[in-house]
Amino acid sequence: MSYSTTEIHPNVKRVIFTEAEIKDRVAQLGRQITNDYKDSKELVLVGILKGSFVFMSDLVRSIYLPNTNVTLEFMSISSYGAATSTSGVIRIMMDLRTNIEGKDVLIIEDIVDSGLTLNHLMDLLNHRKPNSLNTAVLLRKKEGLKVDVPVKYIGFDIPMVFIIGYGLDFAENYRELPYLGELKEECYK
Ligand code: IMP
Ligand code: MG
Repeated sequence: MSYSTTEIHPNVKRVIFTEAEIKDRVAQLGRQITNDYKDSKELVLVGILKGSFVFMSDLVRSIYLPNTNVTLEFMSISSYGAATSTSGVIRIMMDLRTNIEGKDVLIIEDIVDSGLTLNHLMDLLNHRKPNSLNTAVLLRKKEGLKVDVPVKYIGFDIPMVFIIGYGLDFAENYRELPYLGELKEECYK
């Protein structure tokens, strides 16, 4: 079941990517990951809550690695309050429950803006000596980047607008929308 454009949420200015567009792109990323990790013994997919939960659930079902021990873990990090730009303050609310030493680790994140959150996270996880550490991000705001953080898999590059839906929130709302939409400016200004 998909939404027609006449049924979009009243606080959405426009749909940036439809359900079908997201589905196609996520399937492509899944195929890329499947190919890149086919010789991996242990792959830990680390979803960053809450924003990545929809992306992660679709992405993992596009990955097929019958010879790899694939496991899912979650971390919860807080960087934003109700504001729409990064505070630079990052707190670990929930850490991994597994030792990642010697394993291949793929961080799954919803969006990279300044890159501060991801940069901090990669530093932290690298100290735990994984065999490899990479990142899959659904959205990247290229003009927002303040630090040079390496992202191996990127769904879409987007302009500097505030995005909601498909797991992404504004003040904890709109995560349930099935598409990626631009939040109307009057909703946050
Ligand atoms: P960064 O540290 O500036 O890269 O911020 C990344 C985090 O900010 C993401 O994990 C999101 O939680 C949040 N974020 C940045 N831009 C958006 C957006 O357009 N919509 C929703 N959340 C966003
Ligand atoms: Mg996030």
